[in-house]
Amino acid sequence: MNQDEKKRLVAEAALDYVPDGCIVGVGTGSTANFFIDALGARRDRLRGAVASSEASAARLRALGIPLFDLNEVDELPVYVDGADETTRERALIKGGGGALTREKIVAAASKTFVCVVDDSKLVAQLGRFPLPVEVIPLARALVARQLTALGGRPVLREGFITDNGNEILDVHGLAISAPADLETTINQLTGVVTNGLFARRPADVLLMATDRGVVRG
Ligand code: 5RP
Repeated sequence: MNQDEKKRLVAEAALDYVPDGCIVGVGTGSTANFFIDALGARRDRLRGAVASSEASAARLRALGIPLFDLNEVDELPVYVDGADETTRERALIKGGGGALTREKIVAAASKTFVCVVDDSKLVAQLGRFPLPVEVIPLARALVARQLTALGGRPVLREGFITDNGNEILDVHGLAISAPADLETTINQLTGVVTNGLFARRPADVLLMATDRGVVRG
């Protein structure tokens, strides 16, 4: 099975976690896109969706799935999204697609976060994938110096502006032995909007596509 086939398989498996008649939280990225396409096939059983990015909103809209602003709804029953890395404890690095802040907000508003990955994303320790940090543009250099002091090598994501009008520093070379602590430390730097560690609130359910099918972690 190639990686795209795995992404499709695991995205379709996440449908089992979407209650009929609900508003579902929807992530961003290629795996989330497979999930959106699968949702499209059963849109009559959905009330609608809250999207974590403009790109996902456009894809949902094109399939005729009603979109809701998060401020219009109470707790969402489920949020489905991919990840760039995951541990077996379901701590994640996210933000390869640059949507980390809205993803973290929609995940926080959801009862159950179902993370959908193929097995290439599983790591023993987070940090091989550069950690995305969304920054207010004015604070880019200030934050970069502080990330360097923390042992990382921040690189500006050239030509990229987030849906919130901010920039992304991709931080290479961090040894992330305590993800929840590092998530807090980086989020406390003035000028940081959020970082791509999802460890204080990890995924609740990890669905991982392997050559033998989808396994739940
Ligand atoms: C976007 C994300 C994505 O979930 C992450 O980058 C994984 O993407 P893909 O499913 O394309 O591998 O965090 O901000």
